[in-house]
Amino acid sequence: MASEIIEKEIISTGKQCESLPVKSDLDPCVIVIFGASGDLTVRKLIPSLFQMFSNNSLPDPVTIVGCARTSFSHDSFRDMLKEACRCQGKSDIGRWSSFASNLFYQQIQYDSEQAFQDLASFLQKLDLEHGTKGNYIFDMALPPTLYEVVAENLGKAGLSNQFIDGKGWSRIVVEKPFGSDLASALALDQTLRNHFQEEQIFRIDHYLAKETVQNILMFRFANAIFEPIWNRGFIDYVGIMASEKLGVENRAGYYEQAGVIRDMFQNHMLQLMSLIAMEPPSHFESERVRDEKVKLFGAIRPFQRKNDEVILGQYGPGEIDGQKVAGYLQEPKVAIGSLIPTFAMMRFYVENWRWQGVPFYLISGKRMARKETSIVVQFKQVPHSMFRDVLGKNIIANRLVFGIYPEEKISLTFQTKSPGTRVCLRSMTMDFRYEKGPVLDAYEKVLLDCILGDHLLFWRQDGVEAAWKVLTPVLNECEHCQGREQKLHQYPAGTWGPDEAREWVDKIV
Ligand code: BG6
Repeated sequence: MASEIIEKEIISTGKQCESLPVKSDLDPCVIVIFGASGDLTVRKLIPSLFQMFSNNSLPDPVTIVGCARTSFSHDSFRDMLKEACRCQGKSDIGRWSSFASNLFYQQIQYDSEQAFQDLASFLQKLDLEHGTKGNYIFDMALPPTLYEVVAENLGKAGLSNQFIDGKGWSRIVVEKPFGSDLASALALDQTLRNHFQEEQIFRIDHYLAKETVQNILMFRFANAIFEPIWNRGFIDYVGIMASEKLGVENRAGYYEQAGVIRDMFQNHMLQLMSLIAMEPPSHFESERVRDEKVKLFGAIRPFQRKNDEVILGQYGPGEIDGQKVAGYLQEPKVAIGSLIPTFAMMRFYVENWRWQGVPFYLISGKRMARKETSIVVQFKQVPHSMFRDVLGKNIIANRLVFGIYPEEKISLTFQTKSPGTRVCLRSMTMDFRYEKGPVLDAYEKVLLDCILGDHLLFWRQDGVEAAWKVLTPVLNECEHCQGREQKLHQYPAGTWGPDEAREWVDKIV
């Protein structure tokens, strides 16, 4: 049974809460997208930019330049994107032609220094014609193998040092994975840092831009009643679940190198854990918040090599929504006999006073029973039940759930008396849901923050390194241990993962 609290706008400061920044807060700029003919650009970046344009949340003036190896004219590039945006049906396609007048295409060979010199000249021409003032965002919607050569060539073409020369600013946006282990993450950073300073680098984690994820810090630190019980004295365990119905789709090329630990844990899952477990920062400001996250990653207990600490799985054939689906090994471009995990359950402990002895169960997998992203904070049982003789069973302990998908909500479950003459308890759930849904979707939010130069929702390099320090030993163990095949448990697509992990999955769903 659920009672509901739907969002009511009571603004404690008495001021109207601005939902979007006004255009005058946004510097004019050129947004350059490398990988402009790829999936990420077509499915996410351009529809997000078009939506932002329709919401008046892009700067004015702004221009967007797509770069890729494919040959397009400006017009054929615009036509291809118009079709993609029309299919998504998110924004008013009637506004397309005014949006498209800011959209350009420049063919590029990523390893050609000359091509980047040409790009620099094209950007200067756009600055003169549109008044974009030499402010550039370079979005790497590219396979990670190309990050280094592009960063290098941007630097050589003088496109990374606007910031230093005072001509305008230059920012670079990179998508995960930030390396594939600690050593490669350090090498990637070294190349980026040859030309860009840390404050110019924006490492995206789209989970951080989800409304409920952002809300975790508000919930914890803008309410006095939760923080005193947010510790080992009251919390039994924390569970973080990101299950997906989708399989590997057409991404086997990447996924065969990554697997679920690199794909979901090194980034999204550890970020969610850090928001639940970190200490309160002194200010809601990007450096202070990111300092606390790094401390938290540093406090995670090193991997102990116990069998039940990490459980890995791979989906076999099964059924999703009544349709038969292939197993991972039958997916296109997956290597014969591949031992890449598509499911993992990992149990972490945080070694500090607050969390000593409290397990954090992190679970993520593809082709599971349903798509669900949530965080469960499971409180302890009452220390003594005065109802034990009357009820004859344990009292269900309180539970707080941050729902991230399918619904963005916060629910608190507690016990109440059932009406009637007999002493009977029932669980009630109080739900908070956003009435209107997010103002900006995750990609719109990260693009906007990048234009604003706000790093709060982006990874800082020391955080990336600290997360790899936690996971690199786990990956080494999983990838090089004896009996690797036996340790990879099969599960049929459309289920809750391998039986070996069922006990932990049941704690969360
Ligand atoms: C991406 C992963 O970062 O996150 C994908 O590479 C995964 O494999 C996706 O499907 C999940 O994101 P969301 O927002 O759909 O939960």
